[in-house]
Amino acid sequence: MTDASTTPEQSPHRDASIAASKSKADSRFLRVLNGETVDRPPFWFMRQAGRYLPEYRDIRAQTGSFLDLCYTPKKACEVTLQPIRRYGMDAAILFSDILVIPDALGQNVTFVTGEGPKLDPIRSGEALAMLSIDNVESHLEPVFETIDRLSSALDSKTALIGFAGAPWTVATYMVEGGSSKDFATIKAWAFREPDAVDRLIELVTEATARYLCRQIDAGAQVIQLFDTWAGVLPEEAVERWVIQPTRRLVDRIRAHRADIPIIGFPRQLGALTPTYCERTGISAVSLDTSVDLNFAAALQENTVIQGNLDPILLTVGGEAMKTAARRRLDRLGNQRYVFNLGHGITPAASPEIVSELSALIRDWPAR
Ligand code: CP3
Repeated sequence: MTDASTTPEQSPHRDASIAASKSKADSRFLRVLNGETVDRPPFWFMRQAGRYLPEYRDIRAQTGSFLDLCYTPKKACEVTLQPIRRYGMDAAILFSDILVIPDALGQNVTFVTGEGPKLDPIRSGEALAMLSIDNVESHLEPVFETIDRLSSALDSKTALIGFAGAPWTVATYMVEGGSSKDFATIKAWAFREPDAVDRLIELVTEATARYLCRQIDAGAQVIQLFDTWAGVLPEEAVERWVIQPTRRLVDRIRAHRADIPIIGFPRQLGALTPTYCERTGISAVSLDTSVDLNFAAALQENTVIQGNLDPILLTVGGEAMKTAARRRLDRLGNQRYVFNLGHGITPAASPEIVSELSALIRDWPAR
């Protein structure tokens, strides 16, 4: 729970003149999320900070573990800004990771280079009882400091996105103990003992709600919820473990700050995407690469959409990349559309191709 003395208006770190100079009217991204028509679609790229950038690899090499990087505000701030300096995206996304929540709950989380995340798996009520909500906010204090630094460093044209994993996706890592091919462990547990999985999801939802409210207090202007594995559940389980926890998070965030835009990324949810949009109450939906443009355009009539360029095109470039990007720009246009990828930038992406894509978006609709 956040106490009223930490709202940005009253925070000692922010004076009224800074807040006033950060007028929302300057930000294309905030305006589009607010339903306004703009000169060209705003753009940012999921995982825009990361290993494809040599300057990121330099900082990463000078830092102990990946989590140390997430919890060192000066460095986390620097790597957030690296892609903004190169490409001038319309939004910066906080540098952190969705797995700081299990870490803050007391689960052992490590990142093994080349292998991805490793967690001591939670697979029983007893293991679940070892986790504690009590230290979540104090543990994540460095992340709030990173946001505070970023709010001062960014100009009013560049919005700041805070984020978290959606509860289902975070729970998959907590139970599987890392990345998974088939999610057999968490799905079997959910089908066998749904009430135990409810308790896990409830704990993650509460921790995430507190975390996101504090991100907003620190200066995050938009929230994105990454539900990377929303698409692995059967339809009847999507309501219980994807839609309802997301709805509760949205309600908690809106109770804290009514006008904050919330973008949901229910990856590979397919035909259930419109239901997800209606029932969760999110403000905008990020679409993966599999979504066809007619479906996207139909969704766009009722909601702001974001996505869905295939990130592998950033390793290929040339006409393949340009044709795909222009097709989306021409079809989805300068209202209720945020240019982005269908999933994160990969380490093999070329910084030069990212530059060409950024220029193409900035020059649209001129050819
Ligand atoms: O630039 C940004 O988008 C902000 C930072 C960010 C990271 N992870 C940094 C990161 C964000 C928004 C994430 C989200 C995230 N993390 C997701 C959801 C989005 C998605 O890609 O599906 C997920 C599932 C994770 C969990 C995670 N973190 C995995 C599976 C891995 C290993 C695989 C990989 O890409 O390396 C990570 C590590 C990670 N998170 C790295 C970065 C830059 C690479 C680690 C390193 O630099 O050593």
